[in-house]
Amino acid sequence: MSTSEELHKRRLAVVAKGVGSVVSAYVDHAGGGTLTDVDGREWIDFASGIAVTNVGNAAPRVVEAVRAQVERFTHTCFMVAPYESYVAVCEQLIDLTPGTFEKRAALFNSGAEAVENAVKIARHATGRPAVIVFDHAYHGRTNLTMALTAKNMPYKHRFGPFAPEVYRAPMSYPLRDGGLDGAEAARRAVDVIEKQVGGSNVAAVLIEPIQGEGGFVVPAPGFLPAIAAWAKANGAVFIADEIQTGFARTGRWFASEDEGLEPDLITTAKGMGGGLPIAGVVGRADLMDAVHAGGLGGTYGGNPVACAAALAAIETMRELDLNAAARRIESVLRPALSEMAAADPGIAEVRGRGAMIAIELVLADNEPDPTRTAAVSKACHEAGLLTLTCGTYGNVLRFLPPLVISDPDLHRGLDILRRALLT
Ligand SMILES: Cc1ncc(COP(=O)(O)O)c(C=O)c1O
Repeated sequence: MSTSEELHKRRLAVVAKGVGSVVSAYVDHAGGGTLTDVDGREWIDFASGIAVTNVGNAAPRVVEAVRAQVERFTHTCFMVAPYESYVAVCEQLIDLTPGTFEKRAALFNSGAEAVENAVKIARHATGRPAVIVFDHAYHGRTNLTMALTAKNMPYKHRFGPFAPEVYRAPMSYPLRDGGLDGAEAARRAVDVIEKQVGGSNVAAVLIEPIQGEGGFVVPAPGFLPAIAAWAKANGAVFIADEIQTGFARTGRWFASEDEGLEPDLITTAKGMGGGLPIAGVVGRADLMDAVHAGGLGGTYGGNPVACAAALAAIETMRELDLNAAARRIESVLRPALSEMAAADPGIAEVRGRGAMIAIELVLADNEPDPTRTAAVSKACHEAGLLTLTCGTYGNVLRFLPPLVISDPDLHRGLDILRRALLT
């Protein structure tokens, strides 16, 4: 077998430079909370392939369900010849998402595609053009979702022009918005929307309940309900982008539940598929069914193998109570990280929820410290801990372990991080 170094050489000759990788170790196999590279080195996984392998890598139920489905049939296209598992995944989405109102769902391949479709549905149902998004938001890499995403580098730089009718409002970011509480931050956002867009032009307000790539920003309590209430009062569709926060990641099926939100539409992907590409839009039946037959879909959306994986992943989440597991992970990570923060003035904040926790690194006066963040991350990688950075300022280290990670692996990861922070 080739070594990582050999594979990397081959890669440089053929894979486009625009596709990056966090580490240059090539994976041989993975399971639960660890990855093993082709050189036989084990990595503790605090990344979950960016919040995907919530049930663990190669989760036994998922493996078995995929194997069985591949033997039966691999693809028919649901729009050509439908099958049960697509319907069953939609039933699960309807059952698991907040809101007791009548719902419908549709399946897609990726998070960005789900977001695009949620916006299509909202525009179609309301007959309005404008979409409101927030500072630090991340919604994907397609043309529309680049427009919806806030950060220029690396996501948008020189990729424009972008889709029109996208407007950005200020986010509640407690560490960086001068101590505004949720209601005040919502008033500030609503003021921008009403002055610059006008409530009657707004098709949708799209927001991540906890921002992912933008820095694990947890809005002040009350911000999300106030924004949702404004959307309702103005006939705009409130869309929660739960692609990163969904499926037990934050200790609930969906993070919206924590503030009693019942979004009109929810976008979901990542953890839903147990590692296979699948995404969904689920929400109010009157909105979803407003779209004419044939207006939604795609060749692979809700592919039967991905549906089988999703059903097995959801069953695993229920069976192992991974919501409780996420909360337990928080109960280990948060005190350990808070202790590191207490001893280190360069850690401005420990934040997040469940198994979606981050630290924000700063210099004096809360000035972002992306240089140290990159150095700490690199030191973690050198010691065998797979961590990710994020944030508009590149100064947030985020921790997204698989929800089945063992306590010893969690503690080994924390020990590596502790040492890395000293470098
Ligand atoms: C909140 C959120 N929305 C959308 C996306 C895009 O998902 P995908 O990469 O599957 O297109 C992501 C991916 O990180 C995300 O975190």
